[in-house]
Amino acid sequence: MKLNWAERWAVNNPLRPLQQRLEMGWFEKRAGLGTGKECILEVGCGRGAGARLIQRAFAPRHLQAMDLDMDMILRAKRYLSPEARKGIAFYVGDVSRLPYRDGQLDALFGFGVLHHIPDWQGGLAEIARVLKTGGIYAFEELYPSLYQNVLTRRILLHPAENRFRSGDLRQALAAVGLELRDSIENRKIAILGVAVKR
Ligand SMILES: C[S@@+](CC[C@H](N)C(=O)[O-])C[C@H]1O[C@@H](n2cnc3c(N)ncnc32)[C@H](O)[C@@H]1O
Repeated sequence: MKLNWAERWAVNNPLRPLQQRLEMGWFEKRAGLGTGKECILEVGCGRGAGARLIQRAFAPRHLQAMDLDMDMILRAKRYLSPEARKGIAFYVGDVSRLPYRDGQLDALFGFGVLHHIPDWQGGLAEIARVLKTGGIYAFEELYPSLYQNVLTRRILLHPAENRFRSGDLRQALAAVGLELRDSIENRKIAILGVAVKR
């Protein structure tokens, strides 16, 4: 689901890349990925700040970044300088239908994306499908008590049904063969996690 004006403002604010930088520092320590992997994908890349951080941290041979929303991809092309976006292939697409073979990717990153997908379990299954055995899924996700509370449900736009909380997410990860290796979580609010494809 595309973002409404309020969340567009929230994710494109100047502090968001600082938050992503801190999160990337944590991913770097926990993912055990190293540099020079063959292929990494960022889903729901928004304006591309995350892709740039992935490039700096892991320098994969191929880095791709995709988003459902063409406006976000255009924004990424404006936000990153030509130098910064060298080596990052941006495209419009849907997490639920990724254009990769089974087991093709070394790692996949998603900053705040899964909770925007009506069939998030399907999105997660697709993420697991394209990762190779031992591949890494690094993610930041939010829970409904943050984005659908009495205040935020009036301002933000998210799918109303089939929402996940901590237990649901953990169960769904396990169901698609993604083992949660490490996480930092406030069980009411949000989680930062690194999972490994088994
Ligand atoms: C909360 S924003 C996060 C953007 C960026 N990752 C960041 O952290 O600043 C969620 C992003 O996911 C994208 N998105 C939502 N559903 C998607 C889907 N099914 N496939 C790909 N991207 C999707 C939205 O367009 C939006 O850019």
